[in-house]
Amino acid sequence: MEFLDTISVSDFQSLHIMLGWKFLDNKVVEKSIKNSIIKVSCVENGKTIGIARVVGDGFTHGLLTDVIVHPDFQGKGVGKAMIAYLLGKLQEYVNKNCDEFMLELTPTKDNAAFYVKCGFKHKPEEMEGCYLWLKNQNIYASGSKKYVMRLQEQPFENIKRGRKTIEMRLNDEKRSVIKENDIIIFIKKGSSTDYIKARVKALHKYKNFNELYKHFDKTSLGYAKNEEASPDDMTKYYPKEDIEKYGVVGIEIEILK
Ligand SMILES: CC(C)(COP(=O)(O)OP(=O)(O)OC[C@H]1O[C@@H](n2cnc3c(N)ncnc32)[C@H](O)[C@@H]1OP(=O)(O)O)[C@@H](O)C(=O)NCCC(=O)NCCS
Repeated sequence: MEFLDTISVSDFQSLHIMLGWKFLDNKVVEKSIKNSIIKVSCVENGKTIGIARVVGDGFTHGLLTDVIVHPDFQGKGVGKAMIAYLLGKLQEYVNKNCDEFMLELTPTKDNAAFYVKCGFKHKPEEMEGCYLWLKNQNIYASGSKKYVMRLQEQPFENIKRGRKTIEMRLNDEKRSVIKENDIIIFIKKGSSTDYIKARVKALHKYKNFNELYKHFDKTSLGYAKNEEASPDDMTKYYPKEDIEKYGVVGIEIEILK
């Protein structure tokens, strides 16, 4: 196991995607990593199995964030070793640049004990934390949310090239919460950095794919002009019982730059 003083965009993205954490644009990730005070990757046999970084003002306060160990390597001491390495680097930094430096973090309840094992102290109760997420109002309408969907290469490329504007899904618990103006990140299967960012323009709900197919030009569903479009193509992905139970949805999208 070795440590690097850097994090690659693709390692950051693939570990985040693996855990289902909030998806960020590649460029945002690149700049965020660059602006971090300390960043580390843990590598075993050429594969990145962990990352962590410290962000902050550089002189008085920092936040430990994006602490991730690949699920296959958790519980084997990797996280503790990685945090020890990161704290060593931060100590060197403080010795050069600061008088005193407070490193904070907001652990999920289940993980606080891990950080205590790494040498952190619990905040006294009167110092309980608060937080606020601010979203870019040019992208997000009020109350809109971001969802991630994975796509096979062909539909992914069709959407990317503007050849498919309706994404068809079962209208199950996962999809029925999607609303107009929500943002969908389509990630190409097998990749962590090839994705499309799209806005939901409209939602078209039907009893089944036969009904849905009647309402759209086949090219908007991703078929080529010379290709035959059949609702049966969708039963490859979804069992008939599920279609009957949930109905289906055509998610009309527009690509965002
Ligand atoms: C949390 C995480 C980074 C810990 O890394 P890890 O490699 O699994 O942890 P380690 O094996 O190095 O554990 C070090 C010590 O902490 C303990 N520990 C680890 N996770 C713990 C947890 N959730 N609760 C209590 N103790 C924990 C271990 O038992 C071990 O104790 P020991 O030194 O007495 O043997 C890892 O589980 C992870 O990536 N989880 C998913 C992402 C995440 O939740 N990140 C943190 C967000 S706050």
